[in-house]
Amino acid sequence: MNLFRNLFTSSIGRKFLMAITGLVLVGFVTGHLVGNLQIFAHPDQINGYAHFVQGLGPALWGIRLFLLACVAIHIWAAVVLTIESRTAQGSVSYGVKKWLRASIASRYMRMSGFVVLAFILYHLAHFTLGFTGSETFKGTLDPVILQHDVREFGIPLATAGTEVHDVYSMVFLGFANPLVSLFYIVAVGLLSVHLWHGTESLFQTFGWRNGKWEIGLRRVVAVFCLLYFLGNLAIPGAILTGLVEPAAGTAAAAELIAQR
Ligand code: HEM
Repeated sequence: MNLFRNLFTSSIGRKFLMAITGLVLVGFVTGHLVGNLQIFAHPDQINGYAHFVQGLGPALWGIRLFLLACVAIHIWAAVVLTIESRTAQGSVSYGVKKWLRASIASRYMRMSGFVVLAFILYHLAHFTLGFTGSETFKGTLDPVILQHDVREFGIPLATAGTEVHDVYSMVFLGFANPLVSLFYIVAVGLLSVHLWHGTESLFQTFGWRNGKWEIGLRRVVAVFCLLYFLGNLAIPGAILTGLVEPAAGTAAAAELIAQR
């Protein structure tokens, strides 16, 4: 119990909480990206996958509440640690260069954190609640029937003939708007750098800064963050530039042809 209380009441405890909640959120955004990349497969794939996730019922709500708690703890710990470090600045004498670097990095983390939070709120309104301000987008959200069984890593997710939400068309039509796509690209760019800096400070928290494998670990993180950004860029990028067209027969294809 004492250990649990210390997590919230001591600086090192709060740093630990930030690191752990950050790791959970990295796991979520990575899994979410892998799920979203199915937009480049047959429309049944992402529609069947979304149907499976939505059908998790109480488990889905459990996951949502857990993620929300992680976001809340992550932000709370960031705010308290920032206030503490500002109070401590007068009393501790750091090397000026080192202090400047740390201060620019933490200012960047706060700024990118705000943008990512604004992005998540917009994103929930956009795709989860289905509100975009575009009438054409809203008008094409009719359900579709799966033509094939859908499996993921060999696990059956949905069967042919099931009526599902047309997530495929929703994503294509959502990203056909250049302003929306641009906002996503900027937000995931900032998020990728946020993940990169965040993981570097996590190494410090866990005392992994001096190990012989530090350089290797840092390279793995940098490559991971770059791949994460490119994966996220690929979706709005390919749709906006027309590099990938929506599959024939989908609501997105009909709508985009009608718009031309
Ligand atoms: C190109 C990038 C992205 C695409 C195409 C995308 C797509 C989607 C879609 C289609 C949904 C709704 C699923 C449904 O209604 O069945 C969704 C939900 C969500 N997305 Fe994203 N997303 C992207 C990036 C992100 C990022 C970077 C984050 C986090 C920083 C994020 C966080 C969420 C959250 C929290 C939900 C709500 C999940 C729930 O309903 O519980 N997404 N996304």
